[in-house]
Amino acid sequence: MKRIEDQTQHGVLQTGSHDDRARQDFAFSFRNKITSHLMPANRAVFEARAAKRHEKEHGTAPQSPADIRKAMEADSFYTSYVSVRRTSQELIWRSVLPAVDGAEDIEVKTSAGGSLTLDPDISVPRYVDALDIHCMPGVYCHDTGTQATGALYDRGVYLYMSGLMGGLNDSVGQLAATFLKARRPDFMPRKILDLGCAVGHATLPYVDQYPGAEVHGLEAGADLLRYGHARAEAMGKTVHFHQGNAEETGFDDESFDLVATHIVLHETSRRGLPAIFKECFRLLKPGGIMMHIDQPGFAELDAYSTFLQENETYYNNEPFWRQFRRTDMVQTSVDVGFAKDNVETDILAADVINQSQNNGPANKGAKGGGFLVVLAKKS
Ligand SMILES: C[S@@+](CC[C@H](N)C(=O)[O-])C[C@H]1O[C@@H](n2cnc3c(N)ncnc32)[C@H](O)[C@@H]1O
Repeated sequence: MKRIEDQTQHGVLQTGSHDDRARQDFAFSFRNKITSHLMPANRAVFEARAAKRHEKEHGTAPQSPADIRKAMEADSFYTSYVSVRRTSQELIWRSVLPAVDGAEDIEVKTSAGGSLTLDPDISVPRYVDALDIHCMPGVYCHDTGTQATGALYDRGVYLYMSGLMGGLNDSVGQLAATFLKARRPDFMPRKILDLGCAVGHATLPYVDQYPGAEVHGLEAGADLLRYGHARAEAMGKTVHFHQGNAEETGFDDESFDLVATHIVLHETSRRGLPAIFKECFRLLKPGGIMMHIDQPGFAELDAYSTFLQENETYYNNEPFWRQFRRTDMVQTSVDVGFAKDNVETDILAADVINQSQNNGPANKGAKGGGFLVVLAKKS
């Protein structure tokens, strides 16, 4: 079990005062208790009580995720669980807010030679800033003119994910970069672009995995980028950060060898997702690779697990989560111009996150767990 102190102090991390950390510790432990104790108990409640009651009332056992939801919403254990889980999620972010108050004073040491380019005229898609995604106050594009939103995101994500993204919140980027290197050992990208990079958690691992490559991150939120730039420089990693819209980046045609996203697509709309794929295709040089890492499709899950996962949409302000997990990634890639034979998908088991640190990728093809990876090569 991780502790809040286990987050790596990388130089610009804002953890606040002793009192702030005490509040964070409470919110972290409260949420962990709910996830590890209450959440698993729902299955027993479903099987022993809710399913039987539903069958008695409707004549058939609940089969689909929608039927299971109907059955569970009639059970007070489940309704108490979702209420307390939502409260704990809001509490996580609120516990971090006082700690990021000093984010205007974060010093940027420009020793690594990266850069930051902001665009005050950016047109942000509605799906990025119309509501507080996963209950993060102000969400990604809240521009305070400082680094506060970035500091909130860095600390909040660590607490929210129970520390399971690693001390630097970078397990997904480590996993993706390690997987690509192993799956395509001869592919040596010289220019890499990470779309929706936030503070660069998943961007920085590419600096280590592909030394010599020019690494860029693009993101809509200015505060996130200011903080991400300061963080990368403090860590001695050379990254060029840009404010922009991933659907229309403004970079030249065929200017990158690798264009990637990490846990971005599930937050994009029905129109936004294919637009991002189209932009990836436009940006890639011939022979270049598009790679997306995100949640696996619901086809991997049974009806009960699908129901539980759909709670992200119902109770955690993730409006596109359900439709994303029913989207055909291969067809979407083909629709924007990739040849079908050049598109592959895979499921990376969650324990690869740990193994990627030491042993290289181990693809367990896990049902339901882990991450979906979409790889598409431009002819
Ligand atoms: C869940 S965060 C993931 C951040 C990062 N890739 C990581 O792995 O830590 C999604 C990020 O994508 C950004 N984003 C989503 N759609 C975007 C778009 N169309 N243009 C630019 N950024 C976008 C959001 O602002 C947010 O920072």
